[in-house]
Amino acid sequence: MKILITGANGLLGQKLVQLLSNEKTSFLATSQGPSRIRTAEVSYLPLDVVKRDQVIKVVREYSPTVVIHTAAMTQVDQCETDREKCWLLNVMSVAHLIEACAIVNAHLVHLSSDFIFDGLSGPYKEDDEANPINFYGQSKWAAEKLLYESNIKWSIVRTILVYGATPGISRSNIMLWVKRQLEAGKPIQVVDDQIRTPTLVEDLAVACYQIAKQSAHGIYHISGADLLTPYNIARITARYFYLDASLINKTNSEAFKQPAKRPLKTGFIIEKARKDLGYQPHSFEAGLAITASFWD
Ligand SMILES: NC(=O)c1ccc[n+]([C@@H]2O[C@H](COP(=O)([O-])OP(=O)(O)OC[C@H]3O[C@@H](n4cnc5c(N)ncnc54)[C@H](OP(=O)(O)O)[C@@H]3O)[C@@H](O)[C@H]2O)c1
Repeated sequence: MKILITGANGLLGQKLVQLLSNEKTSFLATSQGPSRIRTAEVSYLPLDVVKRDQVIKVVREYSPTVVIHTAAMTQVDQCETDREKCWLLNVMSVAHLIEACAIVNAHLVHLSSDFIFDGLSGPYKEDDEANPINFYGQSKWAAEKLLYESNIKWSIVRTILVYGATPGISRSNIMLWVKRQLEAGKPIQVVDDQIRTPTLVEDLAVACYQIAKQSAHGIYHISGADLLTPYNIARITARYFYLDASLINKTNSEAFKQPAKRPLKTGFIIEKARKDLGYQPHSFEAGLAITASFWD
């Protein structure tokens, strides 16, 4: 098996690089610009997934058996305000990769999101109806539809509120944000009316790798099993790191205005992944301990 990773400088991308290096699986790491991967010696090529010709050239030359497509515009509010860029990155890149995978007969493992759902009836299973309520969700849903209509081998890995740590990532996540704000003694406002099943990035990487190894086809819901609000997440994080939880102020989606609407109650039912992939996610507290081990 030969795996090509897109977005390898990102949180999931870097964890996949570490996992595949440990597993001694052949892979090529790609991302936009130079490599920021510091944890492993890797074969790396810059690849901008928006550029069709580049995508086809790199995939054709490396000829992977599996492509794991993690690159995306993941900032939900930025997607709302810069829709053109969001569409290019989250939808057109998938069109280019489908074309490229068809040439070399590769399996495309695509990362999608709980934000394809409207949040009125979570937790969701794989065949529940999509109804995105913001532009990020619409872009992720449009990309999924390209895969359904394609003739290549594909899997869709939907995930939720991914947390974890690794050097050199460009984006924060809820756990890092809470920790940094509280360490700096800054008060934070955190909503208590949205429900998620937060995902430890290491668990997500293992699931993507398992899907690649099994050539598992179709949609998989991959997240943690604990249903938590962002407020719960902040409180547990504060307690774990012995930080001042009195700085955490409870708010709600009505009061906390953001450019993109958030679905209220998502969360995933992960029975299919447990059964087909042997997926066993860590609890949120165990995930914090794993994340903290990167700072020790
Ligand atoms: N994080 C979450 O909570 C979450 C939730 C649901 C679904 N997902 C999905 O899971 C996947 C992985 O998320 P993540 O948390 O690992 O995201 P991430 O940390 O933001 O990583 C995405 C990576 O893609 C790279 N990238 C951006 N534009 C690119 C381009 N044109 N060509 C090539 N690479 C490009 C970014 O590069 P720079 O670092 O240089 O900007 C970044 O390293 C995404 O598809 C995301 O939509 C994530």
